[in-house]
Amino acid sequence: MQQFKEEIGRLLSVHAGLDEAQVFADLEVPPSPELGDFAFPCFKLAKSFRMAPPRIAADLAQKIPPGSFFERVEAKGPYLNFFCNRGLLAALAIRAVLTEKENYGRRESGRGRTVVIDYSSPNIAKPFGIGHLRSTIIGQALYRIFSALGYHCVGINHLGDWGTQFGKMIAAYLRWGEEASLSADPIRHLYDLYVRFHSEAETDQALEDEGRAWFKKLEDGDETARSLWQRFRDLSLLDFRRVYKMLGVEFDAYQGESFYNEMLDDTIRLIEEAGLARLSEGALIVDLEDEGLPPCLLRKQDGATLYATRDLCAAIWRQHTYRFDLALYVVGADQALHFRQLFAVLKKLGYSWAENCHHVPFGLIRFRDGKMSTRQGKLVFLEDVLNRAVELAGAIISEKNPGLSDKETVARQVGTGAIIFGDLYNDRVKDIEFDWDKVLDFSGETAPYIQYSHARICSILRKAGKFDGGDPSLLLLEEEQAVARTLTRFPEAIERAAETYRPSVVARYLVDLAREFNRFYHQCPVLQAQEDVKKARLLLIDAVRQVLVNGLCLLGIAAPEEM
Ligand code: ARG
Repeated sequence: MQQFKEEIGRLLSVHAGLDEAQVFADLEVPPSPELGDFAFPCFKLAKSFRMAPPRIAADLAQKIPPGSFFERVEAKGPYLNFFCNRGLLAALAIRAVLTEKENYGRRESGRGRTVVIDYSSPNIAKPFGIGHLRSTIIGQALYRIFSALGYHCVGINHLGDWGTQFGKMIAAYLRWGEEASLSADPIRHLYDLYVRFHSEAETDQALEDEGRAWFKKLEDGDETARSLWQRFRDLSLLDFRRVYKMLGVEFDAYQGESFYNEMLDDTIRLIEEAGLARLSEGALIVDLEDEGLPPCLLRKQDGATLYATRDLCAAIWRQHTYRFDLALYVVGADQALHFRQLFAVLKKLGYSWAENCHHVPFGLIRFRDGKMSTRQGKLVFLEDVLNRAVELAGAIISEKNPGLSDKETVARQVGTGAIIFGDLYNDRVKDIEFDWDKVLDFSGETAPYIQYSHARICSILRKAGKFDGGDPSLLLLEEEQAVARTLTRFPEAIERAAETYRPSVVARYLVDLAREFNRFYHQCPVLQAQEDVKKARLLLIDAVRQVLVNGLCLLGIAAPEEM
């Protein structure tokens, strides 16, 4: 649509002496298609033209002749409405997609800027739970979306691999742990130990002290403590990496909390030297009363540092190392207070870049399916969820397309795609109620629906075989136009998703595009159409295919050609 806007800028500068930049800024998209594709409001011109806005609009409509870009230019009240030449619109839309191919939608607006994205960040020695799934999926999608706009992205996994809980873990393992169980199913074994520690600690006060003592040893570099911790960490990472592989997720760096150990003293000194720290009942804190926030705890009475201390250190280190223009923390909404405190302390330290740090919060996932219910007190293991999705997808596919080759790969792509999309489609701040029937519904607002539309197009294109030429300006029907117009909206959807840190904008766009495609396909035959119309329609659906692939790829979802 860019070319059309430019043409309006040119027309209004020629016929009304207006500044093109101002025209672009004021140009609106009318609320309904009967009012054209663009509307230019004439209110601001009243003063300099010494005329009422409706008169100005009427005069301009008279002056501007229809041309190759606009079929009609009409005045409606104070607005000047432009109706695009439909043939040209379809041709430009399709040509843009088919020439740029996998780059269609990409922009350079972020070139030269760096964004650091902190996502996933699970805690070692604990199962990769469903809570970290959202961070992983949203973070990964944001990474791809920002990259598509030319930003240099740094994806960081801020593993929870330090803190007093590891002292407890060590104590528990030394009391009740079994090497055989640890090697067989490390995370389940560690998790059982963790649960046992907490239940026994209720009656056995000595346990807590033992845990604290082990954490102290760990911090002091004690051999036994270190090597057990290292083992827990390595085993956990093996587990996490399996999940990441299933989801197609990657990181540029695994800089967990332990990464900052050696730097924490410097961070604390820096805060002290800025005169921001004070002792309160033996603990070191930063008062944030003037910000209306509870104090930020830097060091406990026993000398141990905290989650917040490590996050302060990490933020400073990241700015120093990456010189980021934007830092995003994709973390559950329940940590909102932590991030407000973190950013407040950074601001007090005088860092102007603190303004560019943002918490990107999200809500909870709940399961409707009793089998995966967290309310039964059972922890939900992400791997079980993914496997179940793949299994269910496999069953649906076998029923729909028994002859499909490589069913397993497709089931994996559809199953994980359903989970990813189920997470991304809704506004991230809302809680999600996960319903298997819904996320796997082939005709709902789901990944399988989009993937299925894509596979359907691939099948039509395969049947059509190779063809030459085709004139997309023949695509004048309402359904064809709607598809072409939707194609032009893809680049804006990416921009808006990045601006608002909401991958759901892209997810929703894809549902719109798939819906418009299906509406078209039900009304307009492709392979049965007359030769020139057929070719034009094949070009149209080929462009839809490309945009569906590009969009799914931004969300981390595969697009199988058959399903
Ligand atoms: N490991 C933390 C948790 O599970 C999340 C860490 C998020 N990132 C951060 N820089 N605080 O709650």
